[in-house]
Amino acid sequence: MPHLKVKPFDTSILDKEREKSSLVTFRATALNSIDEVWGVELGGEEFLLQYKPESKGAALLKYDKVTRPLKVNLLKEALGKVAAALDMEIVSSNIAMSATKPALSSEYFKKIEDFENIAYPKEKIAVEVGFGSGRHLLHQAKKNPDTLYIGLEIHTPSAQQVLKQIELQGLDNIWVVNYDARLFLEMLPSNSCEQIFVHFPVPWDKKPHRRVISPSFLEESMRVLCKEGRLELRTDSDNYFWYALETFFGESVPKTHVEVRKNEALEVTSKYEARWLRQEKDIYDVYVKCLTHSDPRALEIDFNFYGVKYSEGIEEKLSKEAMVFDGFFVHFERLFKIGDEQLLIKCAFGSFDRPEHKYILMGREGCRYFASVPVKTTVNYQAHQKMKTIFLEGDLSV
Ligand SMILES: C[S@@+](CC[C@H](N)C(=O)[O-])C[C@H]1O[C@@H](n2cnc3c(N)ncnc32)[C@H](O)[C@@H]1O
Repeated sequence: MPHLKVKPFDTSILDKEREKSSLVTFRATALNSIDEVWGVELGGEEFLLQYKPESKGAALLKYDKVTRPLKVNLLKEALGKVAAALDMEIVSSNIAMSATKPALSSEYFKKIEDFENIAYPKEKIAVEVGFGSGRHLLHQAKKNPDTLYIGLEIHTPSAQQVLKQIELQGLDNIWVVNYDARLFLEMLPSNSCEQIFVHFPVPWDKKPHRRVISPSFLEESMRVLCKEGRLELRTDSDNYFWYALETFFGESVPKTHVEVRKNEALEVTSKYEARWLRQEKDIYDVYVKCLTHSDPRALEIDFNFYGVKYSEGIEEKLSKEAMVFDGFFVHFERLFKIGDEQLLIKCAFGSFDRPEHKYILMGREGCRYFASVPVKTTVNYQAHQKMKTIFLEGDLSV
């Protein structure tokens, strides 16, 4: 990742001579450390650069992971321009512009945020959770060109491989999302899907809380499936099979019809399946048919911090420990001051499995996320409301 090694210098010139580098919008200094982050505006994007003095007379100027723009060349341009404007003495650099495409650049790659307002190009939708090598996903998409297949995979190299295959095979009906399926389903409209495939999920025998199938996943699946739509689990694990059945027949499950099959041959065999077949393992299919029409998802999410303003000493009152609440957490990880009247808070919050990482910029005039708001999920919203209450009332009740 791009960075510069520079001779350390008096960074307070950034405050005094802001016009020297008009693209730096603020300088924030860490409480209890000499690190700094600088707000930058370039190419229509806002992000942070980190300035870290190191030993041996050098300082590192580099990108910030949380606010990093997708285009690496924009980052390199910002580093180069800031260094030039402030006459920094460069010791070493790796910011030469390159023509390489970002790792996940493809029109078929979608970010979870994209789903907040997206047009679906096909009438029918199906979802595959944890597609791995993608054999089943690609096969289904080829066979059913009138259906959009949304493939969810947390393993980035697998997502990249399948994106390559989509281009090579000339398919136009697959979207790849590199995100946790347990949180993603929330983004889909009610009654929108015909099928949800969960083939050979990791059994997580020792950490069952990490399993994809759970009562809340089942509930969300039944909401997004249309009437007569099916959730299809395929597994080689006896444990997982029985666990899933228990979940599917659990209390307060929406109206469904459950069907079980054993050692059914499918048209396409995944890499995992081929291995289990060689070992002559039993393979179970559990089909859960949705029998009801669901109400639209009615969650109004607003990530504003109405009424929150910086007041002197608030930084002393914020807990530095992670705070765990019912189903979510909030952690104010690092605090930075911008002059005497603004606070920049680096925080993690939301789901334990897929936490959101953001900065919050709080001043005398108001408070906002820097630079983009969180993904619109229920847990993120719960965490947001908790943070707002903490800022307004100092309410730390857990
Ligand atoms: C055992 S592999 C099976 C892959 C493929 N379905 C097959 O049949 O060959 C499980 C896959 O699920 C992915 N995975 C695990 N948890 C996930 C989650 N919460 N959301 C999305 N993908 C997940 C893993 O990265 C892995 O690629």
